[in-house]
Amino acid sequence: MIRSRLLVVHSGRYGQSEKIARFLAADLENWPGCECRCEGLAQLAEDQLEDCQGLVMVTSVHYGRVVAPSTGWALRHRQFLSAVPTALAVVSLSEGRRAGARSRPSEPALHGPTQTFLAKTGWRPDRIALVEGALEYPKYSPINRRAIHCLERALGRPTDLNQSHEYTDWDQVARFGRDFAALADQSASR
Ligand SMILES: Cc1cc2nc3c(=O)[nH]c(=O)nc-3n(C[C@H](O)[C@H](O)[C@H](O)COP(=O)(O)O)c2cc1C
Repeated sequence: MIRSRLLVVHSGRYGQSEKIARFLAADLENWPGCECRCEGLAQLAEDQLEDCQGLVMVTSVHYGRVVAPSTGWALRHRQFLSAVPTALAVVSLSEGRRAGARSRPSEPALHGPTQTFLAKTGWRPDRIALVEGALEYPKYSPINRRAIHCLERALGRPTDLNQSHEYTDWDQVARFGRDFAALADQSASR
């Protein structure tokens, strides 16, 4: 029997938020009594929210900000977001690894782009995670490739410009998903 219908939405630029969202949704589908769909924010139809009992948004940071479509969407759907259990996964790089490649991502409460996003939208997700993303140099424009390469060098972690580098901790993503599934489950059985 299906107890909770969940939706994982994603918005990013180069595909890492989508990859994380798809991983999360596939994992949530295995949670007993849970049905989970995954959709890009740009493709999401309003009626897909109608039978949704919990929502996870996966979105990325570019040039110090959560990408604009996520901010606009969260603002327009404030009412819905305050009515069901929700979670936010913010995908970024420099904030999490500033103190070195092995450091854990910093607290959401200390993460500037996340706090700005929450203040702008008024959304209070039940769970928030900072997730490490990826560097996908081959997909970037020459200007972005150069800018990110310089930033990485300045932060003391030089990277090969000709390759992609993935830093996502998939165990962290799975734990985040299961924690949210348990919360949605509790809420559905109340
Ligand atoms: C042009 C550009 C700007 C970025 N700016 C930031 C930034 O300001 N802070 C940060 O932590 N990560 C930054 N990143 C890293 C991205 O958040 C990371 O690559 C993430 O995986 C992107 O996810 P997406 O493919 O879903 O957009 C930037 C990446 C690019 C390509």
